Amino acid sequence: MLANSVGKRDLSVFPELLNPEDSEDWKRICDLRSNSTVFISDEIFSQVSDLIKANHPESQLTKDQLGLRVEEFFAEIESDKYGNWFYYPWKNVLVHLLPEEDFIKVRTIRNNYKITPLEQELLAKKKVGIVGLSVGQSVALAMALERSCGEMRLADFDTLELSNLNRIKAGVTSLGVEKLVIAAREISEIDPYLKLTLFREGVHEWNVEDFLTRDGVLDLLVDECDSFDIKILLREKAKNHRIPVMMDTSDRGMLDIERYDIEPDRKIFHGFLGEVDPESLKSLSNTQKVAFGLKITGLETLSPRMKASLLEVGQSITSWPQLASGVFLGGASVSHVARKLLIGEKVKSGRYYVDLDELIPVETETFEIPAQITTQSDYHLPTNILPSGYLPDRNELLELVEHANYAPSGGNVQPWIWIYDKRGVLHLIHDRVRSHSLLDYKGTGSLIAFGAALENLRLICAQKGIETEEILHANSFEDDLIASIRFVSKSKEPRQKEKDFELVNGIKIRCTNRKNPSRKLLDIHQMESIKAFCQNPDFILEEIQEMDQLENLAKVIGGMDRMRLFHQQGLKDFIHEIRWNDQEAFETKDGIDVATLELNGTEKAAMGLLKDPRTVSFFRKFFMGYGLTKISKATITSSSAMFLLSGKDFSPKSYLQAGKILQKIWLWTNLNGISFQPVTASLFIFHRVLKENDHGFTEAEKKEIVELKESFNLIFNKGGKMEELFMFRVNFAGEPTVRSFRRDVAQTLKFLD
Ligand SMILES: Cc1cc2nc3c(=O)[nH]c(=O)nc-3n(C[C@H](O)[C@H](O)[C@H](O)COP(=O)(O)O)c2cc1C
Repeated sequence: MLANSVGKRDLSVFPELLNPEDSEDWKRICDLRSNSTVFISDEIFSQVSDLIKANHPESQLTKDQLGLRVEEFFAEIESDKYGNWFYYPWKNVLVHLLPEEDFIKVRTIRNNYKITPLEQELLAKKKVGIVGLSVGQSVALAMALERSCGEMRLADFDTLELSNLNRIKAGVTSLGVEKLVIAAREISEIDPYLKLTLFREGVHEWNVEDFLTRDGVLDLLVDECDSFDIKILLREKAKNHRIPVMMDTSDRGMLDIERYDIEPDRKIFHGFLGEVDPESLKSLSNTQKVAFGLKITGLETLSPRMKASLLEVGQSITSWPQLASGVFLGGASVSHVARKLLIGEKVKSGRYYVDLDELIPVETETFEIPAQITTQSDYHLPTNILPSGYLPDRNELLELVEHANYAPSGGNVQPWIWIYDKRGVLHLIHDRVRSHSLLDYKGTGSLIAFGAALENLRLICAQKGIETEEILHANSFEDDLIASIRFVSKSKEPRQKEKDFELVNGIKIRCTNRKNPSRKLLDIHQMESIKAFCQNPDFILEEIQEMDQLENLAKVIGGMDRMRLFHQQGLKDFIHEIRWNDQEAFETKDGIDVATLELNGTEKAAMGLLKDPRTVSFFRKFFMGYGLTKISKATITSSSAMFLLSGKDFSPKSYLQAGKILQKIWLWTNLNGISFQPVTASLFIFHRVLKENDHGFTEAEKKEIVELKESFNLIFNKGGKMEELFMFRVNFAGEPTVRSFRRDVAQTLKFLD
């Protein structure tokens, strides 16, 4: 700790105070004055003239009259011996100033009566502590300029870097100098009489008490540090000592006021933080800090540009952005409110915004989310199918359909409507209201889900001894009627001879597992078993396992995830398909429960930032958003193998068949302790962009997508001869944290009377 009180001066931080009445000091003044290398600033006559004006504001003195008064003033006082001299070693300047009281009076005269003399007197007794001197510097300077306190305790251990020079008032000559020293010197140049106490090591557990209480308990603590453990520590201690805390966050002018002086039981950070162990916060990376910081700042309320930037931390930027305008605004608002609080006005605890974008709006492009399709065409059921030979009763039918519905579907939209007609035939209809999305290009994603559901139905019927006849209708992508199932007959015994019968046991355990465990390869038997499910000559199942190939694929998939979110419909689908909390997932029983994404805190926070379409519109405008590629990278590089299923045809039947093949692989892998996750978005977008003119991407985006497709075809389906239908990864991830819900079967099954 350093202080500029007599005897404890550090000349590299504080000026040397020289009293001309003191013989030693006078000798030093004379030495310095006779040293030709020292610059002398002696404006004492003009300061005295200001003092005379300040003491006689009522008399309109002319220049000559004032000159006369100054002469009179120095008639009895030797000008050189008047006031004090200060030697600033870092500038090599000797300055002659008025004595303390007069200096303060003249320096702050223009505060009157925005700050009354009485208030100024009161403020002179106040002690303010500022921790963290990036934003804190502007608070400190504003408070020093206004002189809204009598003592400032400053703490920071950091030194100035070039990348600080977009917001910290300093120059290149100060690079490598402690931020604390820069602030202290600046303040000493404004007012060498202002008492400064410096904590050069920053604030820690071992000196926090000193910082808050030594030489008197602080009247206000301004927290602008960026270590979360210290933020918490400061608040806990401030509560003990009943010190109010203020913090500016330089985004949308966010200002937090926590009045522990009058509300000692108030929860820290207004209770936004919940229960946290400060120990766990000691060595966070910048990306982790972002996630944690979001708990405090809130996510929805950040500016769109801040949200976009936070998603780039650890990708295209190293830390979150701060602007001089935001920092200066913070300095101004903290010092404004601090002054009111210190003079005893009733400043209330809370979070406030001085949002210049809101106060002075500018026209911006709106980013419209297209409306949801709300109509469903009538179903045209076939009339030429023979009646069922066996008629399951209502309960049995519900059980069969429930098993079919355990099938996977893109975004868990469950795009199925089942209709049981009067002749005992069960029809599968595409519910386009549920499935309409960027990825469900021509209903291809839904067709895969239907293939999987029909496979489940076949297996459960076989287990119940029911023989079925499946009639596939979908001849064109526009057809809503997908398939009809006749129940031919029922025997008492399960139909064990039905192909792959044993997979029925996997229906209820099958799931998408998005965990990224450490990598373990499949053995030969596992690989062969998976490939054996694709013996159909119209389909090919390829796999990659080499890390360099996986890494190349990760780049393609990451790039395509970014493209998906750039697309208006793609973003809308994303925002609508995620169920952001347990309750939402439970109530809707569809969509992707955020818990099934197996994200860590940082990733979850990043995901939440995407809820604001303005974030992505900003990325799109500036072709950014590389943070969006991170999650897929981990998905792919942690997989045992990636598989691509391709087919000869791009047709509804091809997709239905692909769905069936996949479901068998999925059931088999899950039954054998192997985890499965589809990775499909890129394939659906490739088809849309390469097969349609009106795809909704810009030319630049299309170009990027075409390039990514070319890279893709260097890895899989070389030469692009087949139609890529579905891609998935397998690994050994154990049990997923949670399982996805399904809608109540009764809502999906209609009985025709
Ligand atoms: C056609 C299709 C595409 C899918 N694409 C993805 C994907 O790209 N990424 C992913 O994590 N899950 C994907 N899934 C998995 C679904 O999100 C998942 O099946 C659904 O949420 C239900 O969860 P469950 O599989 O655990 O029952 C896809 C599923 C289907 C049928």
